[in-house]
Order: sequence, then structure tokens, then C-alpha cells
Amino acid sequence: MWPDRRLLALFKTEFPIVLAPMAGIMDADLVIAAAQGGALGSLPCAMLSVAKAREQVNIIRQRVSAPVNMNFFCHKAVDADPRREAAWKKRLAHYYQELGLDPAAPVNAANRAPFDAAMCELIEELKPEVVSFHFGLPDQALLTRVKAAGCMVIANATIVREAIWLEENGADAIIAQGAEAGGHRGMFLTENIHEQPGTFALVPQVVDAVKVPVIAAGGIADGRGIAAAFALGAAGVQIGTAYLRCPESKVTAPARTALAQARDDATVITNVMTGRPARGVANRVMREIGPVSPDAPAFPHAATAFGPLKAASEKLDKVDFTNLWAGQAVRLGREMPAAELTRALAGAALARLSRMAG
Ligand SMILES: Cc1cc2nc3c(=O)[nH]c(=O)nc-3n(C[C@H](O)[C@H](O)[C@H](O)COP(=O)(O)O)c2cc1C
Repeated sequence: MWPDRRLLALFKTEFPIVLAPMAGIMDADLVIAAAQGGALGSLPCAMLSVAKAREQVNIIRQRVSAPVNMNFFCHKAVDADPRREAAWKKRLAHYYQELGLDPAAPVNAANRAPFDAAMCELIEELKPEVVSFHFGLPDQALLTRVKAAGCMVIANATIVREAIWLEENGADAIIAQGAEAGGHRGMFLTENIHEQPGTFALVPQVVDAVKVPVIAAGGIADGRGIAAAFALGAAGVQIGTAYLRCPESKVTAPARTALAQARDDATVITNVMTGRPARGVANRVMREIGPVSPDAPAFPHAATAFGPLKAASEKLDKVDFTNLWAGQAVRLGREMPAAELTRALAGAALARLSRMAG
């Protein structure tokens, strides 16, 4: 028995496990597989157009009868600053040269847009059971419409102050994202990455500070981690890294190899790849000009210049410019179908919880 059943009641899933949304490395396939295994599947929409997000949700609805979470970013969009972009391009020029690329050739701008009125209309049309937000919440008018569409709203906090703010502003559950987590730090009331608490310290303090259920995230990758999250007072877990090597993810072959070889000390927090702090396995460019650089253009514009470099480098089977987003528990990830992995995670957690109770 799960010691806390509030999330099961809210989400109506078999297990209190949320497959983390992971923009750029997954689509409907991983959502479907995790949902078939009993988790809440999350579709990352931050890099999708409205049409693509609609198509993906329709595929999910056709293939599995389960609640679905649509995930969005809520950063404040800033225009690209041509001066900073040019300086950044110059900083990366020798890599372009090395790969025989023309730094002056036009590139597609990085595509991570915040939640907006067009996506809100899509929410009203599709009515997903859950909507989750990273980097805060959308403005009150949009949030009111999301809630009026009947969606449960969950949002990410990295410090207690953010958790309290999210509860006061309408979140139905809080994801407490510890510093171990892979991907972007969901921080929005602080910019200091050195002050970000780890999961073990953060979760009980968030649990004490809010009334809504807390979902622990960051470094949880097996039954032991899930049981620990419940011991700390969480009502569920959000797991990303552990699913990266599932066959249903869209992680490229060279990135898969890098993840399989990563050890406990392989990840760093970097702002080099996108302009915002995120945790990933250190790659060549993160090591050579980061992991943190004051020169990186604002999110998401730093990413634009990496497009051609990443494509050319991956053709050579290299991950020198690939975002290898992953958390500190990357070593615990397994190569296993996501439905099977979900059931294994839940089974191991329940066995450990019952041993602890006995
Ligand atoms: C590859 C990758 C991409 C991610 N992309 C997103 C995203 O698009 N939206 C989001 O809310 N969180 C994103 N995250 C963060 C996760 O929601 C979550 O906080 C994290 O995976 C939990 O820690 P773990 O990776 O140790 O399990 C991403 C994480 C990873 C590993």
C-alpha cells in the first residue's frame, strides 16, 4: 500500500509516479508506454507548435486510455540581442571551423516558447487531465482558463519560497525539484544556482510549508529513491533520467552511449547550452567554455548557435554539442521498455516500503 494516496486520487493513475516531461528527447511514444505501465505520462510541449502538440495528444488518446499531462515553460520571453548573439557565435567560431561549417549561414532560432493564448486554446480544446508548468505559472487570466477547462495544475519549485508562491497562486500540487535533477532548473524566484537545495533537504521543507500534495523530483531512479521520497513526506515522485534509455525515448544513438557510460560524477549544472542553468552530462563545449559562462545569451537564444554544430558532430557519432540533460542518478538508469520500468519501479518501492514498515 502507498503510504499517501492523495496523488492517486487526484490523477487517477495506478501508481503515484509521474514520467517527467523531457523536451527534445521524447514524444507520444514514451508517454504512452509509461502510462501503460501505470504512471502519469507527461508530454513536453515547450518545443512543439500548437498543431504538433494536438497531433501528439491525439496519438496518446488513441493508443492508451489514461490521464495525460501537458507540460509548458513559463519563462519571460526576451528578444535575441544581436550583439550578444554575434559575440557568442565568435566564441564558437573555431568549432564551426573545425567541423567545416560556415558560421555566417542562416540557422533556425532556438524554439522554446512560453505558454501563451494559442496553447491555452489548445488546452481548452483537448482538456488534458493535468497541465504542468516549469519556471513559474502563466499569468492569472491564462491560468484561470486552464483551471476552468477542468485541468489539474502542477508546477515546479526549487526552493520553499517558490513552493509557497505556487500554492498561493493556484497550483494543485507542487513538484519539489532538488538540485540532483536532470534538465533545466525550474527556478523562477531566484537566480542563484549555488543556493539550490538537494532533494533530501528540499522535500520535507516544502511538505512543511504547503498544504497541497508534494511530488519529489531529482535523483530518484529506483525503488529505494521512491520509498525515501515517501519517507520525506512526498505524495509521489516525478522521474526523468531513469527513463532516458528506454527504447521509446528519442535519445540519439551517440547520446545513449554517453548516458550508458556516465557515472555519479558525470553531470554538471551549465548555462552554456541554452542560457539557463540545467543539469546534464558534461560534454566537450560545457567543459571548454563553461560549465557556466557569463557570455551565454539569454534563454533560449544561447542554443541557436549549437544547431549546426550538434548536427555535424552527431554525424561523426560525437556528443560534443549535444544537450545530454540528465540527473545525478544517471548511473541507475536502465535500458528497459518504459511500461516494464514503471512497473518495476513501483513494485520495488512497494516492497521496500513494506519492509520498512515491518
Ligand atoms: C532530458 C530532460 C529534459 C527535461 N525537460 C523538461 C521539460 O521539458 N519540462 C519540465 O518541466 N521538466 C523537464 N525536465 C526536468 C524534469 O521535469 C525533472 O525535474 C527531472 O527529470 C527530475 O530529476 P531526474 O532527472 O533526476 O529524475 C527535464 C529533465 C531531463 C532529464
